[in-house]
Amino acid sequence: MKITAILLAAGQGTRMKSSLPKVLHPIAGKPMIWHALQAISHSTTEKPVVVVGHGAEEVKTYLGDSAQTVLQEPQLGTGHAVMQAESLLKGKSDLVVVCYADMPLLRGETLQKLVDTQRMNSGSMSILTVIADDPRGFGRIIRKGDGTVAAIVEEYVATPDQLQIKELNVGGYCFDSNWLWDALHRIPKNPKKSEYYLTDTVELAAKEGLPVHATVMDDLEETIGVNTRVHLSEVETAMRRRINQSHMLNGVTMIDPSSVYIEADIRIGRDTVIMPNTFLHGKTELGERNVVGPNTIIRDSKIGNGCKILSSVLEGALLENDVDMGPFARLRKGAHLGNHVHMGNFGEVKDSHLEDGVKMGHFSYIGNARIGANTNIGAGTITCNYDGEKKHNTEIGEDVFIGSDTMLVAPLKLGDGARTGAGAVVTKDVPDDTLVVGMPARAIRKLERKPKTK
Ligand code: UD1
Ligand code: CA
Repeated sequence: MKITAILLAAGQGTRMKSSLPKVLHPIAGKPMIWHALQAISHSTTEKPVVVVGHGAEEVKTYLGDSAQTVLQEPQLGTGHAVMQAESLLKGKSDLVVVCYADMPLLRGETLQKLVDTQRMNSGSMSILTVIADDPRGFGRIIRKGDGTVAAIVEEYVATPDQLQIKELNVGGYCFDSNWLWDALHRIPKNPKKSEYYLTDTVELAAKEGLPVHATVMDDLEETIGVNTRVHLSEVETAMRRRINQSHMLNGVTMIDPSSVYIEADIRIGRDTVIMPNTFLHGKTELGERNVVGPNTIIRDSKIGNGCKILSSVLEGALLENDVDMGPFARLRKGAHLGNHVHMGNFGEVKDSHLEDGVKMGHFSYIGNARIGANTNIGAGTITCNYDGEKKHNTEIGEDVFIGSDTMLVAPLKLGDGARTGAGAVVTKDVPDDTLVVGMPARAIRKLERKPKTK
């Protein structure tokens, strides 16, 4: 059976007071519409159709080929919006699921229940409803004596009696496709607003004797629609709670989940501990047994197992296992720390590979460099990688000892086992096992390297 979703996203979103289309506002780091697309992917078999209008180009650019799009211009209501998909979908789908792109908390499981309800229904459509004390401007559900749905009445046309009804229209529909395309041509233009309401299909079906069934939801939170930035923040909080709970259920510890900010689609291995005031953004992946935070921001980075990251900022970084960094360390794009690297306070690394066991305790800048295994970077060491025009590379061998406050003027190579004296300004390559001192540093003597103990 072919099941296709139509997502309505053409409305202006006036009350957001934004130049960004409403459905592109981020929630847990992903545009609102991403969440809606995730949810519908569970219960549908075909590529979804998104109805775009306001900000169409921006929305289409974001969607790429993750969805087909149709343009609704002008926007004459939710029924009119669905009509725009007729030429794309008529005869090509058995069931059509319609929902609104501004309800990012609606779960895939809920839409699956809706589809299941319609599959059992001899009639032409089923809908999602919720019972709530606060009607929030939602359409009211009118039931027939036999318990099926007779109509949806929008709040502004409801009678005082109808306004008392506590069952509300959530905004999720599943239609028999053949019936839908025909019925849309028969819904009346709403006299007050000159719009075509999708909700009027309910009364049409009921009058034709086709039973309309409702899946009654019990989680009110899922039905929050975003119309203002206040709603946006409510949805953000709810989504964050949901994300954190799923990580905790997968074996991640959070001592205070309310102060942990993890975007959607981030992977964290078990027995990792996320401390308060920690932010995980973008394409980030953490392995097992790490301790991250407090006060840490990680974006687009991959962390192995057993790392400790305290009060640090990482972006575009790769950490292997058992790395120990912070407090107050910063990794920028292309930083790669090998196993057991120790990076202490006030260091910055970008576009550099620190191989296994490198130690960099205090106040250093390492850029465009490769540092061999077990090398020690003294306090205040700087790779002078930029000559004002170009970046240059620094290559440092294994078991090197860089004295405190060494300036490494790139391009530069230091051989294995080399040493620099405190305050050296190194402008020329240093051979293996050689000590250089002074400014600019010059060779002093050849060194004996201790044999490795392990
Ligand atoms: C709609 C329902 C209401 C329900 C509520 C739940 C109708 C007529 N009413 O009301 O019963 O309780 O949602 O949130 O459907 N859109 C278009 N093109 C248009 C108009 C709207 O694409 O011409 C899109 C909007 O971008 C939005 C969605 O459809 O994503 C819903 O439209 P909106 O105007 O917010 O409907 P509500 O008044 O909230
Ligand atoms: Ca709405």
